[in-house]
Amino acid sequence: MFKIEFDKNNGETELLYVYGDESILTELEYHNVLINHNCRQGHCGNCILHLIEGEVIHQESLIPLSSSPKEILACQSKPITDIKVKIRD
Ligand code: FES
Repeated sequence: MFKIEFDKNNGETELLYVYGDESILTELEYHNVLINHNCRQGHCGNCILHLIEGEVIHQESLIPLSSSPKEILACQSKPITDIKVKIRD
């Protein structure tokens, strides 16, 4: 089981405990933490998060992502360690 620490950029943090078999976007939704998204297929970029700590398995992205700060698509990634993420500024 992995921990997702989700920084909402408003001084609040959500802690989720997940098995890592669903995308971060789906896990956030399961826990009633809603973020922008649209296609759920790696096309639109609406679900970009900054990965602050930890590692994820990332499916193919059809849009360019920054490596510094590290960007991930919530719909295309699953945690493989405890992670800390935040909404893109
Ligand atoms: S929802 Fe479109 S890239 Fe994730």
